[in-house]
Amino acid sequence: MNFTGAHILSINQFQRQDVERVFAVADAMQPYALRKKVTRVLEGAILGNMFFEASTRTRVSFGSAFNLLGGEVRETAGFESSALVKGESLQDTARVLSGFSDVICMRHPQPGSVADFASASRVPVMNGGDGANEHPTQALLDLYTIRKEMADKGRDIDGLRVAMIGDLRYGRTVHSLSKLLSLYKNIQVVLVSPIELTLPEDIVEHMRSAGVKVTISHELADGIGDVDIVYSTRIQEERFASKEEADLYRGKFRLNQAIYTEFCQPNTVIMHPLPRDSRADANELDVDLDTNPNLAIFRQTDNGVLVRMALFALVLDVVDLVDQYSQDVRWYNSRQI
Ligand code: NCD
Repeated sequence: MNFTGAHILSINQFQRQDVERVFAVADAMQPYALRKKVTRVLEGAILGNMFFEASTRTRVSFGSAFNLLGGEVRETAGFESSALVKGESLQDTARVLSGFSDVICMRHPQPGSVADFASASRVPVMNGGDGANEHPTQALLDLYTIRKEMADKGRDIDGLRVAMIGDLRYGRTVHSLSKLLSLYKNIQVVLVSPIELTLPEDIVEHMRSAGVKVTISHELADGIGDVDIVYSTRIQEERFASKEEADLYRGKFRLNQAIYTEFCQPNTVIMHPLPRDSRADANELDVDLDTNPNLAIFRQTDNGVLVRMALFALVLDVVDLVDQYSQDVRWYNSRQI
């Protein structure tokens, strides 16, 4: 894929070598994310960060990644503060806002909305989540994390066994991650969800036709016993017809240290795109896992900055200039990734 000027809308755009290119550039961003060096390579560039759905880490990590490359961030958050409430189309909004920005990141509740917006944009657009459809940058940071966690164990992504747990119907992160894993060899995926919240059939088919061995389960204990990665998800209550309907599924697949010890193999890596729902009736990842060294959830969020820096550098074609515009930092910092 030619990254320069490309929209990043779906994992369907990626071949394995493209993913590896993103990961190599993400590795090279480490000194900047660690604040050992600063770069001004994107000085003068503006990111339009448009989030029409709740977001903490995706919005802030896109913004931080752009800042770390020396660029400026403009944010629009929520429909109320945009002209979309006046009936303006996404395409008109794109025509206008792409005149003010060099790249745009967008999250929106409608599947396909970010692609619709991108079709009228004069600058590259990155999908920060379009409804229940896809969340490609999350999948890239998830797989980047998996790659690092497995490398620490002397393993590769090929041959990986992953359990995906929870709301696989509406969870866009698992939709994108399933497609991304399909680019690798000898992958086994166990899908653990309530019957009503199974992974959409077209994505299961996508994985199977790419050679992924897919098993479907409705029991947590069955699913987590024989895998390298447990990837837990939140019930996407905002996608249900009512809160009461979402309540039927909340807390069905709780993982805590006792269950982990009883059913998981030692050193199984625990992941979650976050936010984890920490309310008592949900608690899909208990806080008693927080001291478990295999809990990778905050390494995922740190890695998100590296991966998003890589995507900006690739799309704006400055990968080879990042170091040229860099200098050492002058201030004290204790950061480690
Ligand atoms: C996810 C999302 O928005 O799809 N969050 C994220 O971006 N890390 C998952 C979720 O909200 O449950």
